[in-house]
Amino acid sequence: MFAYDFHTHILPGMDDGAADVSTAVAMIRKLQEQGVEHIVLTPHYYAENESVEEFLERREEAYARLMAAPEAESFPPLLLGAEVRLHRGMSERPELQKLCVQGTRLLLLEFPYLRHADWMLQEVENITYQLQVVPMLAHIDRFLTWGHMTEKQAQRVLDFEDAIVQINNEAVLERHSRKFVKKLLKEEYLFVFGSDTHNLKDRAPNFDAVADFLRKYDYEEPELFD
Ligand SMILES: [Fe+2]
Repeated sequence: MFAYDFHTHILPGMDDGAADVSTAVAMIRKLQEQGVEHIVLTPHYYAENESVEEFLERREEAYARLMAAPEAESFPPLLLGAEVRLHRGMSERPELQKLCVQGTRLLLLEFPYLRHADWMLQEVENITYQLQVVPMLAHIDRFLTWGHMTEKQAQRVLDFEDAIVQINNEAVLERHSRKFVKKLLKEEYLFVFGSDTHNLKDRAPNFDAVADFLRKYDYEEPELFD
């Protein structure tokens, strides 16, 4: 059982995730079947494309369409959030606080797909203290696997203890990233899994893979909400 999926692209028509309500409903069902109790909805937010207000308006509309489905009565609790792409100067934008996971100070932040550089972690630190949020750093495993980040850089990210690391479930399926997950478990870092599900095909809900993997390990989901 997993208390939360912290990273999903389920809101219909919002980004490159679920294209329509019926796909969104099927993705929610699948997560439920895999034992997920709460789902955080985290559509992409790119500051260069729209203002926070415009994004929130679109998100509200997509959420209303989803909740109008007859199946909505039996949905698990859904929490609104966003996956916010990191950019320089973000810490100067207090409106970004509105993108935290509903009712919390957790902000899912995604590093840009560039070679990892010092300014990125510096910006994360500024965001943390200036905006008073708790960054959840999205799928660190991906940046390692794809070569944007060296192991040394990943270690520096882990060393910033005021952030929480989110790992994509598929990390347990590939040798290099599985090694990283094992390290997190062994050294008892605070981290959460997320499906980062976008559809029912190549990026479908995949907590079954993690459940299989975790049978051999002691993993306790951190309690992030009081
Ligand atoms: Fe994502």
